[in-house]
Formats: sequence, C-alpha cells, structure tokens
Amino acid sequence: MIPRLRTPDSTLRFLAQGYTFVRRQARSVGTDAFRTRLMLRPVVCLYGAEAAGFFYGGGRFSRAGALPLSVVHLLQDAGSVQTLEGAAHDHRKLMFLAARREEQIELLLEAFRDEWAEAAERWQRLPEVDLYRESVGVLARSATRWAGLEPASEWLADTLSTMVDRAAAVGPLNWAARTKRLRAERWAREVVEEIREGRRTLPEDALARTIAEHLDLDGRLLPAEVAAVELLNILRPTVAVARFIVFAALALHHHPEWAGRVAADADDRLHFAQEVRRFYPFFPVIGGVATRDLEFRGERLREGQWVLLDLFGTNRDERSWPQPERFDPDRFAGWDGNPDTLVPQGAGDAAHGHRCPGETATVALVVEATRLLTTSLEYRVPPQDLRIGLRRMPALTVDDFTITEVRARGRSSAGSG
Ligand code: HEM
Repeated sequence: MIPRLRTPDSTLRFLAQGYTFVRRQARSVGTDAFRTRLMLRPVVCLYGAEAAGFFYGGGRFSRAGALPLSVVHLLQDAGSVQTLEGAAHDHRKLMFLAARREEQIELLLEAFRDEWAEAAERWQRLPEVDLYRESVGVLARSATRWAGLEPASEWLADTLSTMVDRAAAVGPLNWAARTKRLRAERWAREVVEEIREGRRTLPEDALARTIAEHLDLDGRLLPAEVAAVELLNILRPTVAVARFIVFAALALHHHPEWAGRVAADADDRLHFAQEVRRFYPFFPVIGGVATRDLEFRGERLREGQWVLLDLFGTNRDERSWPQPERFDPDRFAGWDGNPDTLVPQGAGDAAHGHRCPGETATVALVVEATRLLTTSLEYRVPPQDLRIGLRRMPALTVDDFTITEVRARGRSSAGSG
C-alpha cells in the first residue's frame, strides 16, 4: 500500500525541505513510498535500494516529461541522449561509453593533473583561493582537452558551471543561465562543424570527434545542434565534479585524521571518494514517467504515472548504510558493490539500467583530487560558514570554500597548516 500525504500539494514543502523532503514525508506516514502532488501533478515518491532497483530495472520509466522544463533546458536539450528511450537510446549511449574506457580515463587524469599543477602555482601567489571556482576552471580546461579541444576559456568554464548551479532556479536567474547556455551551444556547434568539414583535425579517439562523427540508428550524422548538445553533455558534468572536489576538501577539513591515510594508500583514497559521493548532496531526486502499467508492492502504477526516486535519501538509507549520517570511508572496505545502494549518479548496473556514463570518470577525478589535495599542497581553511544548506539544490557550502596560505608541499611554508 502506498499511502497518500494529507496535504493536497507538497510543492512548498519540497522547496522548504529540499533534499530531506522525500525521507521526512515518507517517515511521517511510516513507509518509504508515498503519493502526493508537486506543482499540482500527481507523483509517487520513493527511496531505498528496493525502490531504486524497481526504478532502474526493465525499462519501466522514461525520462521524457519527468523534470520541470526550467531544469530540462539547462541540463538537457531536444534530441539529446537524456530524451531518448529504447533502441535509439541504447545506440546513442554507445557513443558516450567511450568516456568510460580506461585509456580515456587516463587521458582525462593527465589533463587534470597538468591543469591542477598550473593552477596551484598561481594559487600560491593569491591571498585566498575560492576552491569551487578554481576547480571549475581546472575541470573545464581538463574536460575540453580530454575531448580533443583547446583548453576552455573563462566564459566557457563559467557557463558550464552555471548550467548546473542554476538548474533548480526559476525566473530570471534561470533565463540568464539559458542565455549563456545558448552561446555555449553555438560554440559547440561550430566545433562540430569544423571537425566535420576538416577545419579541425583531432586524434581519432578524441571524444569531440567521436560525437561529431557518430552515426545515428538511421546511419546519418546527428544534426549539428544535437551533436553540439551531446558535446556539452560531456563537458558540463565533468565540470560539475567541482562540487565533489569541494566536498572532498570539506571532508578532509572535518576529518583531518583521513589526510595521512588517503595520501598514502590507494584503497583508502577510493573508499574516501566513494564516501564523499554517498554522503554529500548532489542531485536530490531523479524523475521518471511509467512507460506502461506497473506494479510496485502489489499496487498499480498506471502508464504515465510520474515517479521521483530520492537519490540523496537512498544514499543515506539506514537499511543499506549503518549510521548513514556518519562520514566513514571505511564502510566501503566491505561494500558489496550493490549499485542500487550508492546512487549519486543514478542506480542500476553499468551494463543495463544505469544511465550516467561519467561515473568512472567522476570517481577517478575525486580520487585524484583527494590525492592532490593531500600530497601536493599545504593550505589553511580560514573561519567561514561551511555548513551545507539542504534547501539549496544543488547544494554547496554556505560560504565559498576558501583556502589561504597555499604552498606546494615540501617547500618552506612558515606558518602554514
Ligand atoms: C558530478 C558528477 C556527476 C553526477 C552527480 C552525475 C549524475 C547523473 C545523473 C543523476 C544522471 C541521470 C541518470 C538517469 O537518468 O537515471 C546522469 C546522466 C548522465 N550523465 Fe552524469 N553525472 C556526473 C558526471 C558525469 C560525467 C563526468 C559525464 C561525462 C563524462 C556524465 C554524463 C552523463 C550523461 C551523458 C547522462 C545522460 C545519460 C542518459 O540519459 O542515458 N556525467 N548523470
């Protein structure tokens, strides 16, 4: 039985409770699934590994019409992989799977190390460093190099991060971000056309070339504007990893006992990065629309039913994670790898239901950033408000995460901590 909340519409409560909305409401009715309305539209909200398995298995949910348009325009766009289902989706997805290959991850990490080293030189001359902004720049330049292009300019870096920062904004902030996005789409389209017309020569396995030359199911090149959107679909989320870099630095600040371990041991680094992705908030929920009549725990969900799976709540579900509110990387030493329990980038196993092709790259980047934060730099974290507001989506610390007195590790660094 999926109970219905008593309030006729929960939109205001969702905005007030943010990441905690689904779990709090579910608990108020004593279960992990409930019916309500959001923006007057009937919705079923769920969390937990069982719900994640149901949501990601068997092609039960499509993403079309599953998110508000203001979000769709910044994170996706017409004809992009997110809007496809079935065979068309599987075929387009193959193009993105290149991003998961080991040699591609190595290319990305090489560019990232390089860009980090160059930025870190500059940080040492600055009175203070905004770690989020700087990570955005480092990642944007790494992602464009990874794709086979010149390092991103400042406006491109800023635009790619704004698409994610403003995803949940409505009104003028959202419109301004869309205007920026349109300029980025024009830039990406130009890149695609240059590659196709031979005005840009890229190595064969460069991701921008893979996208520009990809043939759709009908054997034709993608329309240039769709290929442009897909190029942004690699660059934008790679830049979004900046949030996890800040959260890794925040975790090191709150749990300094981990610094030595992650500096020295690759397994500890991986467990730390996984715990960062589990513990800290990123996308609160993922939406889907039932592709046919379905049954969940004996209850009928009709075709077209809108469903929200709580990603944050599933990551913090005590049925999968003992003491979920504790930051404890060691929990990953014995993790069974169930992809429906750790879901910051969606659930489902990589070969079937899982949709984000960038999870391997994300984990690799967070691991590497953790290594660089603890082995290449010394810095101070001056007093600032480092709480994470769970109403702001996507979340970040209240104040920018600022670091000062940055020094290369090993050099004389009077007074640095
Ligand atoms: C900050 C790290 C990231 C987070 C939190 C994240 C999260 C997500 C989520 C929640 C989805 C939707 C899954 C669904 O519809 O079920 C998704 C899809 C996607 N992600 Fe990621 N992602 C990240 C990094 C990346 C990276 C680095 C790339 C590319 C290299 C990437 C490329 C994509 C693409 C192309 C899709 C759409 C796939 C489809 O609809 O089939 N993501 N991501």
